[in-house]
Amino acid sequence: MAQTPTHLTPETLGEFRSAALAEAQAAATPAEVEALRARLLGRKGQVRDIFALLGQAAPEQRPLLGQLLNALRQELEAALVAKPAAAPAAPPRPVFDFSLPGRLPPRGRLHPINETIEAVKDIFKRLGFEVAVGPEVELDYYNFEALNIPRDHPSRDSFDTFFLHDDVLLRSQTSTVQVRVMESRKPPIRVIAPGKVYRPDTVDATHGFLFHQLEGLVVDEGVTMADLKYVLLEFARGLYGKDIRMRFRPSFFPFTEPSVEVDISCFVCGGKGCSVCKKAGWIEILGAGMVDPNVFRYVGYDAERYTGFAFGMGVERVTMRRLNLNDMRLFLENDLRFLRQF
Ligand code: PHE
Repeated sequence: MAQTPTHLTPETLGEFRSAALAEAQAAATPAEVEALRARLLGRKGQVRDIFALLGQAAPEQRPLLGQLLNALRQELEAALVAKPAAAPAAPPRPVFDFSLPGRLPPRGRLHPINETIEAVKDIFKRLGFEVAVGPEVELDYYNFEALNIPRDHPSRDSFDTFFLHDDVLLRSQTSTVQVRVMESRKPPIRVIAPGKVYRPDTVDATHGFLFHQLEGLVVDEGVTMADLKYVLLEFARGLYGKDIRMRFRPSFFPFTEPSVEVDISCFVCGGKGCSVCKKAGWIEILGAGMVDPNVFRYVGYDAERYTGFAFGMGVERVTMRRLNLNDMRLFLENDLRFLRQF
């Protein structure tokens, strides 16, 4: 046991220090460490007693001795704190436990919109369609002019924004791809073209400044409206089920003549009327029509020889029905709590 010096000098303090540190080193169990700490550092401990000797030391030595004593107290505190943790013999730990399950990195998945596009693509691929793409930054010519929408045509008004330059804009419809495809090759043509479109719509639950369309175009000799009907019915049945019925309502688009809006019988109630079809029994799914001969003229096709049909659907709408959602803003917010549900 370290002896408390009877008078204080750097030498006697040094002896005490060596003895006390040796004792701290030797203490093996938490109990021993605790007892030693009480004896050395406690309120009536040896270090306290030694501090009391400071008053009797030569005045010129006091500052040095005070420093040494403070240092010693810290040293002992450190030595006695570190001890207990080491006390129980810990079993050797393997560097890596190979029996633990692996930690999987978070895995992404298709966005619901892209999932719809993939499902629709699959159906049309089976019908012999290819997939075409066109630019989102588009020339006025492809978005309007060649689609039979001249400069002064009033139907331009609702798309009259997102111009990047006099003749350059963000496309407002995927019908642009019709023209681009026809320009680049000769019939027969059977393509679909999914993609983003931009419109100056005020954002609400069913409108967005950006949404997705999926365009279709077929051109060949002898293509009729019966072919349009067949292809669209195959599509609707592929997506919504075998019992789906379809109806055409007259409509207008500048680049198709005649033009139709296409409804399917409600895939929830079968036509009786429910909340999904808003009691109508029918659900509008797309716009379509026979390609206007004027469009053929723009791309240099012989309008006497070729006929064709085109259609365009809104992907958000299809997806909202598929997932029973009522607000398309959710698609763009990128909130993982929403996206992870599907
Ligand atoms: N482009 C039209 C629209 O955005 C849809 C459409 C495409 C209509 C092809 C007919 C033929 O409303």
